[in-house]
Amino acid sequence: MAVQQSNPFAQKDPRVITVKPPVPPAAPAAQGAAGPAPTPPPLLEVEGLRTWFPIKKGIFARTAGYVKAVNGVSFAMHAGETLGVVGESGCGKSTLSRTILRLEKPHAGTIRFEGRNVLALRGKELQQYRRDMQVVFQDPHATLNPRHSVLDILTEGMLVHGLIKPKEAQEVAAELLRDVGLQPDAMHRYPHAFSGGQRQRICIARALALKPKMIICDEAVSALDLSIRAQVLNLLMELKDKYHLAYLFITHDIGVVEHIADNIIVMFKGEIVERGPAEQVLLHPQEPYTQRLIAAVPRVGGAAAQA
Ligand SMILES: Nc1ncnc2c1ncn2[C@@H]1O[C@H](COP(=O)(O)OP(=O)(O)OP(=O)(O)O)[C@@H](O)[C@H]1O
Ligand SMILES: [Mg+2]
Repeated sequence: MAVQQSNPFAQKDPRVITVKPPVPPAAPAAQGAAGPAPTPPPLLEVEGLRTWFPIKKGIFARTAGYVKAVNGVSFAMHAGETLGVVGESGCGKSTLSRTILRLEKPHAGTIRFEGRNVLALRGKELQQYRRDMQVVFQDPHATLNPRHSVLDILTEGMLVHGLIKPKEAQEVAAELLRDVGLQPDAMHRYPHAFSGGQRQRICIARALALKPKMIICDEAVSALDLSIRAQVLNLLMELKDKYHLAYLFITHDIGVVEHIADNIIVMFKGEIVERGPAEQVLLHPQEPYTQRLIAAVPRVGGAAAQA
């Protein structure tokens, strides 16, 4: 876990919470070879994002108000970073991820990926974004087509995008399965023939197939029992190092991000109420809401959360 080096709340722009690598003040261009290396731009930058759902009333389905699922959310994260997004059920975490994935249209705000305006992407650029930004959901059973073999599941995206030829499919699938700790012969089986943890490994392999820069894990380990959860979290961390992945790691259980997040944002009713390096948020939560989330994490004889 990233060791905190400075207080992010002291930074002028509260959206910039990444401390790994630290964000130095903008270096003058004239520094030359002797000057500090320029800070890379954020991989993902979200600013003032609002995704509201209309509440319809009456026989004319008049809009009587809005569910402000995401209401003015701003943050930035860098390549290779894991940002934990925590908050209770219904606080807007999945709506945030769906908006970033362009599955929901926001009312206001901007999303930038490698500096490009995600909401304006079309054609080839949008295709590239859909490859760079993958997602793993909570329920692998629901997201894996039961009629497709694992070979098909893992390679159909690559075939559609023209990244591999059909004759290469088996070799590529075998490599992906090895990456997630499964035997290559698993490619000939169907999703029902795996345990929940193994199915989630298949979902992770499918996400890796398109060589993404970032994976959104939306409650990706929430349905797994504790020992399998730890194994899948370890796997995600290994893959992150191997492929320099960034994770937006969404969970209602703040205990899950304890070992993997570099930084954490805490959401409540569509807004970010606390943010900072993981250690700071977990050990010195400022908001009573965050303190309650931490206090709700069950501990068995280990170091208790100081909430
Ligand atoms: N398509 C939709 N139409 C109307 N309301 C919606 C829609 N999607 C989400 N909502 C509402 O937006 C709010 C946020 O939902 P969201 O699924 O983002 O929460 P969440 O933090 O992911 O919760 P959970 O931890 O249970 O997954 C909820 O009140 C939900 O009912
Ligand atoms: Mg959700």
